[in-house]
Amino acid sequence: MSVAPEPLDGSDCLRVVCAAAEMALTVPPGTSVLEAVRRAGLEVPAPCPDARCGDCETRVLEGEPDHRDGVLTREERAFGETMMICVSRARTPRLVLDL
Ligand code: FES
Repeated sequence: MSVAPEPLDGSDCLRVVCAAAEMALTVPPGTSVLEAVRRAGLEVPAPCPDARCGDCETRVLEGEPDHRDGVLTREERAFGETMMICVSRARTPRLVLDL
C-alpha cells in the first residue's frame, strides 16, 4: 500500500530533476526553481517582475506543481502539465521537469 506524500509548504526544500539535462538539484526555501536551475548552469529565460509573461513556462513530467503565477488559467493549473518556474513551487517533494 502506498501513502500519499505530505504536501509541501513554502518552508520545505524541493527536489527538482531536470530530465533533459540529466541533473538533480535541491531548491531551498526562499529560492525559486528558476534561480536554482540557472545557478546550476541551465540557460532559461530571464524572469519578469510579476510572474505574468509566461516565458519560463516549463513542462512538468512528474510531480504536482503549486501554481503561484498570474499566467495559467484555472483549467491549466488543474491539468498540471506546465508550470511557471519563476514563482511556482510544488505540492510534492519532487518535481521532474522538461529542462
Ligand atoms: S519569467 Fe515571467 S512568468 Fe516566469
